[in-house]
Amino acid sequence: MTEMDKAPQTAPRRVFIKTYGCQMNVYDSDRMVDALAPHGYVPTQEPGDADLVLLNTCHIREKASEKVFSELGRLKELQGERRAAGGDMMIGVAGCVAQAEGEEIARRAPMVDLVFGPQAYHRLPDMLAQAEGQRHLHPSLKKAVIDTDFPEEDKFAHLPAAKKEVTIKRGLTAFLTVQEGCDKFCSFCVVPYTRGAEVSRPVAQVLAEARGLIEAGVKEITLLGQNVNAYHGLDAGGRDVGLGELAYLLAEIPGLERLRYTTSHPRDMDEALIAAHRDLPLLMPYLHLPVQSGSDRILKAMNRRHTSAEYLALIERIKQARPDMALSGDFIVGFPGETDQDFEDTLTIIRQTGYASAYSFKYSTRPGTPGATLTEQVDEAVKTERLHRLQELVNQQTTDFHASCVGKTMPVLIERVGRMPGQVGGRSPYLQAVHLEGSTDLIGAIHEVEIIGTSTNSLVGRLKQAAAA
Ligand code: 5AD
Ligand code: SF4
Repeated sequence: MTEMDKAPQTAPRRVFIKTYGCQMNVYDSDRMVDALAPHGYVPTQEPGDADLVLLNTCHIREKASEKVFSELGRLKELQGERRAAGGDMMIGVAGCVAQAEGEEIARRAPMVDLVFGPQAYHRLPDMLAQAEGQRHLHPSLKKAVIDTDFPEEDKFAHLPAAKKEVTIKRGLTAFLTVQEGCDKFCSFCVVPYTRGAEVSRPVAQVLAEARGLIEAGVKEITLLGQNVNAYHGLDAGGRDVGLGELAYLLAEIPGLERLRYTTSHPRDMDEALIAAHRDLPLLMPYLHLPVQSGSDRILKAMNRRHTSAEYLALIERIKQARPDMALSGDFIVGFPGETDQDFEDTLTIIRQTGYASAYSFKYSTRPGTPGATLTEQVDEAVKTERLHRLQELVNQQTTDFHASCVGKTMPVLIERVGRMPGQVGGRSPYLQAVHLEGSTDLIGAIHEVEIIGTSTNSLVGRLKQAAAA
């Protein structure tokens, strides 16, 4: 039993969590709320009202830690105001910046009470109790509670099940982390260092969490992992189960209507997963499959361990299995040594693949990664120009993709009231926002919608028929 279990807070206390970065952090922030709920904490949207402010940080690209320090500067003022008024506000830094720069944060920002990495969320109540134990101390004597170990224990097994009322607020769609960490060691990427080695959650744990979400009204689950298609969880008999097989198991749960997963590595798109795309209509035909570059030379330097031709052949196989499949991707421009020709090869693979959407970034050196030792840096101006050209191309592809949907009928998960009175809004299989005329009774189910037009970043639809019973 922990200190906090023995002495639960009576009056509710408020926690504000600011989340940076990927969906994994969004999921983790929700888990922090769950871990704190039994100890009397309720979430608030206002940092000014909060007794505890947590920054769940991201370290994937440049300026992440600067952003954290400037946010901490703002919070310091709020904390000062609260203390001047006789109250208090505790501040914690979580996530990947905390993991990578924990000591530095405690040194540079002494008003921080807690610093903890992504593997320590289940210990948050204990850490809080420790930090609270120092409250009476003079600020110069306080020391931040730091927890950036990679413990042997399984953090998921220690997190409490989501409280129903918290889950319900999550609505019709939810994230479910099935795998964490990465063993791929792409030479630009900090993830294997901040999130550690690949760990998959056992199948029973994933299925139980999925059932809980569905019972709470969730219709669409997105399985999360830094390298989600490398998932290999154990079943009750100790057998290794891959993501493809996991998809079949999830598909059997009554009430689950849509399934997605992100982010995938091309090397881990195995036959079983491709077969799942062929066989399971609930597995959405929209896949985030980053290639990063179209140049074989750069792919090698990035340690991606596949060629551009292998990527294209893989896309071909996936589309054979699921002809309505659309793709999204990630691209890095200006990796050290990238020539004009290498960059042209990237534009070529984008044209050959045809993306429904893509995220693109200028390469930024991450301390501690193999890429950081490469000396042939690309000029900032060249990176800017390449990024601009690449984004022009993918923006055009996104526009074309939206336009290609007009005239088609597709299932739309209606999630909310629309922007205009009498309208409702939802998501297509391709995660496009769709707006249509319709009553709020439509909310909460999937309806067939004919796409009749596009507007900026969204589709306009017309209801085709009532929801299937
Ligand atoms: N510089 C630029 N982009 C990066 N990404 C990861 N590390 C870096 C880096 N050092 C991008 C990759 C990855 C996405 C999540 O972020 O494209 O797929
Ligand atoms: Fe980073 Fe590569 Fe792992 Fe993705 S697959 S998290 S880019 S090391």
